[in-house]
Amino acid sequence: MNDQPKCCSCEPALKAETRAKYDTQWVLVDEQVSAERRKHLAAIADPLLRMILPFSGKTVVDLGVGTGSLAFRAAELSPPELLIGIDFSSSGLRMSRRISGGDRFSSTRFEAVMGDLERLPLSDTCADVILSQASFNLLPDKAAGMNEMARIAKRGARILLSDAFRARRKTEDEPWEACVGGAITVAEFSTLALSSKLFISQQLDLTQQVKALVKSGKWDWPEFVEHGLHYRGFVMFRS
Ligand SMILES: C[S@@+](CC[C@H](N)C(=O)[O-])C[C@H]1O[C@@H](n2cnc3c(N)ncnc32)[C@H](O)[C@@H]1O
Repeated sequence: MNDQPKCCSCEPALKAETRAKYDTQWVLVDEQVSAERRKHLAAIADPLLRMILPFSGKTVVDLGVGTGSLAFRAAELSPPELLIGIDFSSSGLRMSRRISGGDRFSSTRFEAVMGDLERLPLSDTCADVILSQASFNLLPDKAAGMNEMARIAKRGARILLSDAFRARRKTEDEPWEACVGGAITVAEFSTLALSSKLFISQQLDLTQQVKALVKSGKWDWPEFVEHGLHYRGFVMFRS
């Protein structure tokens, strides 16, 4: 973990850049574009979600919800009682709130909550299920993010996290907000999880599926291919 930024002084700047990037990106996304993204990314979300279904009667929290590709896909497959989407992008939260009002999500109560994934505005042990897709790599302080997941997870809660990982060492010029500079290795991730007392029960390599999405233009993430990143999904539990 030596090459991960730990200094308090650079973290606010990195987060401000990330937030500004997604505020600009999500403001351009309407309900139709969002539904298309959800449909395309189902190729990587579905195999993972099917490992932890059903969600009925449960409180499901999506960390870095954006416009809800993962959260609303989960609700399509198995509507939870309460779906909470956390993000620090106001435009993402606005769109996710709008999408939640659609007929197909009428059986789920949705709350879009402004917050930092390193300091969640949620109470201890409030979540039966935690979801997160392509957001963890953007955290400058990943240990804080992992500790927060463990804190809000109920005993026995399932945590599904998927993200980009690196196989080789970081170089200085890799852009943070393109989900490259913040990517860590799978070994580093596993150590972090264990330190927060989160246990990995299943793991899926989704690199080929993500490459196919990028190459077919269904996921606008050329840096994933250019930087030779890997994509993994993890199911973890809190004992
Ligand atoms: C690549 S997008 C993924 C969005 C969604 N999970 C998806 O798969 O479509 C990353 C999201 O994480 C959010 N994010 C990144 N860092 C965050 C932080 N520290 N606190 C809250 N949200 C954050 C961004 O605003 C953005 O909406």
